[in-house]
Amino acid sequence: MEIKFVEASGEVHHVEVEVGLNAMEAALQNGVPGIDGDCGGNAACGTCHILVDQAWLASLDTTRSEHEEAMIELIENAQPNSRLACQIKLDEALDGLIIHLPEAQF
Ligand code: FES
Repeated sequence: MEIKFVEASGEVHHVEVEVGLNAMEAALQNGVPGIDGDCGGNAACGTCHILVDQAWLASLDTTRSEHEEAMIELIENAQPNSRLACQIKLDEALDGLIIHLPEAQF
């Protein structure tokens, strides 16, 4: 499957990913800049903050876990469509997903 990361500058990264990975792993494996994933995917660092493309909000289960919600509350530039990339599990239904990167992590 393929997903697309769009940097704040407008630069687009198309990445080929394995089903079952999360979006933070997909970014790291493909050298997408701007996602650090310091805690290894435990919703505990907030360095994988991303914004889900508006067109994809309906297809993605946007329910945030308590952990994710608490972490996002600490992020200054968080938006209603903010998620932690490590909490987005990539399955076939998300083929073509568009993810926007914030200007900076924290
Ligand atoms: Fe730390 Fe996602 S990798 S919150």
